[in-house]
Amino acid sequence: MRAATARAHSNIAFIKYWGNLDDSLRLPANPSLSMNLDGLYTETTVTWDEALESDTLLLNGQTAPDAARQRVAHHLDALRHRLDLSGYARVESINNFPMGAGIASSASAFAALTVAAVVAAGLELPERDLTTLARLGSGSASRSVPDGFVIWHAANTHDGAFAQSIAPADYWNLVDVIAIVSDQHKAVGSTQGHHSATTSDLQVARVEGAPARVVACQEAVLNRDFAALAAVVEHDSNLMHAVMMTSRPQLFYWQPASLAVMDLVRQWRAEGLRVCYTLDAGPNVHCICAAEDAPVIAGRLDALDGVRQVLQAGPGAGARVIRRE
Ligand code: DP6
Repeated sequence: MRAATARAHSNIAFIKYWGNLDDSLRLPANPSLSMNLDGLYTETTVTWDEALESDTLLLNGQTAPDAARQRVAHHLDALRHRLDLSGYARVESINNFPMGAGIASSASAFAALTVAAVVAAGLELPERDLTTLARLGSGSASRSVPDGFVIWHAANTHDGAFAQSIAPADYWNLVDVIAIVSDQHKAVGSTQGHHSATTSDLQVARVEGAPARVVACQEAVLNRDFAALAAVVEHDSNLMHAVMMTSRPQLFYWQPASLAVMDLVRQWRAEGLRVCYTLDAGPNVHCICAAEDAPVIAGRLDALDGVRQVLQAGPGAGARVIRRE
């Protein structure tokens, strides 16, 4: 019996992943760029146990719902197949996110699961291979493996679609101030959403422009140029939501409170605060700020009627092994 525990952080995409070239391998239609989120993490212990007759999953101390267990078992099947492993695993996973806040956990979950499973099996793999293996469980999980600010490359091969750090977590002191406007479970999750991306006439144009936006975003990060970052981050989020809204069936994630926050963010920026918005497949608004402006932004968001909760996260580290037995 061999066990290992890994911790991985959630990440927020500055340039979004939306749509796959290949759904089963999760080869993304376009490259993306993200920041890991310090303080929002999953810790997962994997124990390979010859006595087990199937994979088991405990989530925050409770037996996991069937759908979650099946998704984890499916990912472990992929790892068993690619790494020539045998036997089943006991998986115990804890999310430190506030329960029911509507923060996606698949990125941190599959990054931590992958790293823990590989290390518990006694293997040492290069980071690049860990990113491609994590990608098989959840696309955005590939970006939670490397440190800090991360690019995930688009390619039509498993090995080509890897992620790498472009700058460490301490390179730029940005803060993601997250305005939680709804804690309801999303009606249509990302996995299903990716399938419908090509039904929008706008997806081709969004995908075509993505490499240039990734380059612009990378330059903005490397130059610590907030104005350039704000321009490309908001534009890219709007493009993804335009695709979602024009997919068939249509996907509308914005709620009235999301729009109200976006509007205020634009006003606050015009006043001179360094803040911009981005939204994932849900109504919560991620307000990316310069650290000096984060307390003011958090205070203003907290005072809004439509905002239920405000979370803050700076740039986070990559996935790490924290225990082996
Ligand atoms: C809107 O990585 O959650 O957050 O691969 O099916 O698990 P699966 O999808 P997921 O998609 C993330 C979509 C997004 C944008 C992003 O994070 O880039």
